[in-house]
Amino acid sequence: MKPLVVVNFKTYRQGKEAINLAKQIERVDGKIIVGVQASDVYEIVKKTKLKVYSQHVDYLEKGRATGFILPEAVRGDKAIGSFLNHSEHKLGFDVLKKTVKRCNEVGLKTVVFASSLREALKIEKLKPDYLVIEPPELVGGKVSVSESKPELIEKIKKSLKMDFLVGAGIHSYEDLKIAMKLGASGIAVSSAICNVKNSGKALRELIGK
Ligand code: G3P
Repeated sequence: MKPLVVVNFKTYRQGKEAINLAKQIERVDGKIIVGVQASDVYEIVKKTKLKVYSQHVDYLEKGRATGFILPEAVRGDKAIGSFLNHSEHKLGFDVLKKTVKRCNEVGLKTVVFASSLREALKIEKLKPDYLVIEPPELVGGKVSVSESKPELIEKIKKSLKMDFLVGAGIHSYEDLKIAMKLGASGIAVSSAICNVKNSGKALRELIGK
């Protein structure tokens, strides 16, 4: 099975730099899912064929909701979906539930993040399109979930019914291979691609191309 690869731009790149990064990613593999700031969705959709997701949306409706991001807004900009509940943008479970529902209503796919197997088991009931488990203490570091918590990946595989991805500290092809071997369908990665000089080269090495 070909691994699913999610690249989370976080706030490492925005505006022109985000478009540039997206183009580099597209040259390596046009099927990659990218999570970008809502303000970058429109241009990246226009300039690449990547699967573009917003990094967040809110469940609120049109009207008195200053500063919130409506699912309709990013859908209107042609995002395929939205990330939700990343460890850097945590939502209460009730809010998450409402937001997944709103995304379903407007036709946005959901990539929902969980910080633990326990949280993943709860989130599975919301039937997101993708579920990504990332131990928060490893996010942004040099030690990957594959290297330091292989037993967690195995346990997730045994406990969840749905497919899942893993992320946090992923930086090598070896990390990707271990995650896949232990039962993940793919990986989510950020700093190893978005916070380096040659993102194209880093991505090519990471996915073994
Ligand atoms: O969503 C992916 C992200 O949180 C992992 O970050 O920098 O550890 O690859 P990083």
